[in-house]
Amino acid sequence: MSTISIENLRYTWPGSDDPVLDIAEFRVAQAETVFLRGASGSGKSTLLGLLAGTLTAQSGSLQILGTELATLSPRKRDRFRADHIGIVFQQFNLIPFLTVAGNLRLVARFSGRPRRDITEKSEHLLESLNLDPALLHRRADRLSVGQQQRVAIARALINEPELLLADEPTSALDTDARDSFMSLLLSIRDISNCTMLFASHDRSLAKYFDTEVELANLNKAQARQVSHV
Ligand SMILES: Nc1ncnc2c1ncn2[C@@H]1O[C@H](COP(=O)(O)OP(=O)(O)OP(=O)(O)O)[C@@H](O)[C@H]1O
Ligand SMILES: [Mg+2]
Repeated sequence: MSTISIENLRYTWPGSDDPVLDIAEFRVAQAETVFLRGASGSGKSTLLGLLAGTLTAQSGSLQILGTELATLSPRKRDRFRADHIGIVFQQFNLIPFLTVAGNLRLVARFSGRPRRDITEKSEHLLESLNLDPALLHRRADRLSVGQQQRVAIARALINEPELLLADEPTSALDTDARDSFMSLLLSIRDISNCTMLFASHDRSLAKYFDTEVELANLNKAQARQVSHV
């Protein structure tokens, strides 16, 4: 079974006449790491939103681990996301006034785990990300950018997701910081062995992944838009 399976998926933003995404077929196998490349505005974040179930396509099929997301109620979809999908956002999106532990608990509580498990798991994750577990008690807005980044990875992995989605989490970094971020992300992915889809416009990151996918080659809607120009 594929972790991601898309067929004839079309998505149009409300108020727009034309679809932004029209994908005949896209599959990602279990434990595969995929680099999704696309120019700014090509629809990478839109596709990640559909895969995370925060957006729903008007037609077609999108299955994660064999579950058709569109058939779930919004509540079940939220629960499915909490149980199976980890997300690293471009801006990390930590809640600034909560501690690191608070940020991790907020996500973990969603999946119904006992509090003691969450604390143990949080400490363990911080250690594997080379962070002092004492940082659990520090507010997120008192962390360095590099620390925030690692906490964002910890948050995405706390529920042991089968699928990790990352939306350009390196764009704010210089080359050295970017390379160490990528190594860390890939090494912790090796431990959890989850499937990973990483979206970016930056072609030089493709070397870190099993597979490279160009969104323009996948997306018929974009091909149409380009041919108008
Ligand atoms: N909330 C929204 N409402 C309407 N249109 C949107 C919305 N978000 C994005 N779009 C449009 O959808 C298209 C794809 O945007 P998207 O954010 O998915 O691109 P992207 O590949 O992630 O770009 P970037 O690399 O700049 O992050 C763009 O034309 C954008 O204007
Ligand atoms: Mg984007």
